[in-house]
Amino acid sequence: MQYRTVHVEASRSYDILIGRGILAGLGDFIRPLLGECRLAVLTDSNVDALYGGTIMEYLHAAGYSACKYVIPAGEASKCAANLLAFLNFLAGEQFTRSDAVIAFGGGVVGDLGGLSASLYLRGVKYVQLPTTLLAAVDSSVGGKTAIDIPAGKNLVGSFYQPSLVCCDTALMDTLPKEIYRDGCAEVIKYGMILDKELYDTLHTLPFDRDAVVARCVGIKRDVVQQDEFDNGVRGLLNFGHTFGHAIEKLSDFGVSHGEAVAKGMVIAAKVAPLCGLCDVADELSALLLRYGFDITCGYSAGEIYNALLSDKKRRGGTISVVLPRTVGDCCLVQLPVEELGCLLEKVI
Ligand SMILES: NC(=O)c1ccc[n+]([C@@H]2O[C@H](COP(=O)([O-])OP(=O)(O)OC[C@H]3O[C@@H](n4cnc5c(N)ncnc54)[C@H](O)[C@@H]3O)[C@@H](O)[C@H]2O)c1
Repeated sequence: MQYRTVHVEASRSYDILIGRGILAGLGDFIRPLLGECRLAVLTDSNVDALYGGTIMEYLHAAGYSACKYVIPAGEASKCAANLLAFLNFLAGEQFTRSDAVIAFGGGVVGDLGGLSASLYLRGVKYVQLPTTLLAAVDSSVGGKTAIDIPAGKNLVGSFYQPSLVCCDTALMDTLPKEIYRDGCAEVIKYGMILDKELYDTLHTLPFDRDAVVARCVGIKRDVVQQDEFDNGVRGLLNFGHTFGHAIEKLSDFGVSHGEAVAKGMVIAAKVAPLCGLCDVADELSALLLRYGFDITCGYSAGEIYNALLSDKKRRGGTISVVLPRTVGDCCLVQLPVEELGCLLEKVI
């Protein structure tokens, strides 16, 4: 079985394994990390229909006692009610501190599973098995866990590192085109912020999925190792996200995360030259269009500005935005909120 390994040194150190078909080896991968234990597989209805039987077979064949908990697919499932219901499920199954959670799905399952693991009995081990491109390159790595509450997305969560991330890239073959493309926005983001070589390879479609996932994960690892708790350089990963979150919110989440990040990256690239940085907006727009993204903003500068006022990254009178110095090199810039409002009027 061939796979790539990326090692993360954080408050809990762990490996990220990436390869086609590696789910079959899951039992062997987890045994040295989890020992003899019971496993609760958290997954969603779509992933369950496609792969729920397979994963349970693999775990049982490896000698594990495993049970499964299925949530409806979709962001609405990343909620307090499901968090409590899953915690109750673990308690009902009499899970102990030596048992473990397996989060098998996209970012919704990964975030909910990670948060549940961090809370149950004040923390049990968990393993991330990402099944979307976005989860593979982003949400399964770095230990951020969360649920949404009515006041906003991801407002309740924890930093809690997994014991292992095992990414079987063959599972992504069944992703709907739009969902796969959402992950491509994050991949392009990694190239833009820190790796021109990666960015250049993304012009060849389809890209080598295993190599690209491993490279993105390596970039995220390097950033997380410097700033596990998101007080500095980890902010670079928000390229396109400050404006993207505003667009997601304005659309009442009708615009997908990836599409919103693509639009947000273009806005940031247009703001950059007005702040004395170079102009890569045309270059970036051309690549995003090749991936099929609609990069028109869809909202007025005033609407985006108002939405930004409630952004988590606002600190008093300033807001932190990530702007490109060039392809493969972005920087964090603190801008007075009113100044950003004026800049938006010029680019939107
Ligand atoms: N923790 C972090 O650091 C972090 C980072 C980025 C995003 N996130 C979170 O991740 C979530 C978005 O993740 P996502 O885009 O993976 O969404 P998702 O988990 O909702 O998955 C998207 C859709 O794809 C389906 N799906 C998953 N795997 C599949 C497969 N192999 N084949 C067919 N269908 C499949 C799912 O059922 C779902 O309908 C958001 O909640 C976001 O806040 C977290």
